[in-house]
Amino acid sequence: MSRVTIEERETLWHVRINAPERRNALGGEVVDGLLQAAEKVAEKKAVRCVILSGAGDKAFCAGADLKERQGMPEPAVRAFVSRLNQMMNAIANSPKVWIAAIHGACLGGGLELALCADLRVARADVMMGLPEVRLGILPGAGGTQRLPRLIGVARAKELILTGSRIDAKEALRLGVVNRMADDHEAAAHALAEEVCKRAPISLTQAKRALDLGLDLHMDAGLRWERTCYDVTIPTQDRLEGLAAFAERRAPQYKGE
Ligand code: COA
Repeated sequence: MSRVTIEERETLWHVRINAPERRNALGGEVVDGLLQAAEKVAEKKAVRCVILSGAGDKAFCAGADLKERQGMPEPAVRAFVSRLNQMMNAIANSPKVWIAAIHGACLGGGLELALCADLRVARADVMMGLPEVRLGILPGAGGTQRLPRLIGVARAKELILTGSRIDAKEALRLGVVNRMADDHEAAAHALAEEVCKRAPISLTQAKRALDLGLDLHMDAGLRWERTCYDVTIPTQDRLEGLAAFAERRAPQYKGE
């Protein structure tokens, strides 16, 4: 059985980590499977949104596979962390909108993985944290960079330097997650359905404008926004949006 499964529907894919007996920890097979899924979906024109979740009832993802890591020689650890980051970046930089549907444990690399998604939905039993400093390492798959950009430096430092865990309510209060829901996958699907109705080129360009603009000075950021906007001007979908408005109907976007 594959460690990462993909349910392919036309505009929406569901990628699921399938290692529940290890709480969906990020071992080599899981990392390779997620990287392949991210690369595959990037090439599918029809897909607009991807839901990312974990199998079983206990965990979204318990982070690095600590069993696999035990006894791993230093060069292998370095190589693995590079591969882990390659996978995380493939999701974070994906042209598609990724929604993490999180339940149970979401720790270490599991939280770093969730931070690569564009949106996060949490079930009430979520337990989140970056415990790496408790294990003699630090969050090395984007956690020290993505978390402060999302919730601010002071809050990120508190979580990273104490390695403490937070529950779903606190994650919502801090802005780590967008929504809390009784059924995290159903809530992620509802959000995804909204995203899937929108113009695909607009989604990709809005995501680029936000993600790459955040670190720029305001003037440069506004110029970057314009660069992304310009991509949408010659599209059929822009004309379709205007026509649909005039005709009082829902637009039919084609990603062209
Ligand atoms: N890597 C490898 N195996 C893991 C794992 C991980 N990160 N997290 C859990 N597992 C394994 C356990 O070793 C156990 O295996 P076993 O049945 O062969 O003994 C199995 O998953 C179930 O774990 P258990 O602790 O009994 O389940 P739980 O539901 O009570 O608790 C966690 C789940 C995730 C809270 C707990 O396992 C935990 O704290 N894991 C470590 C998380 C961590 O520190 N990650 C950061 C790494 S940087």
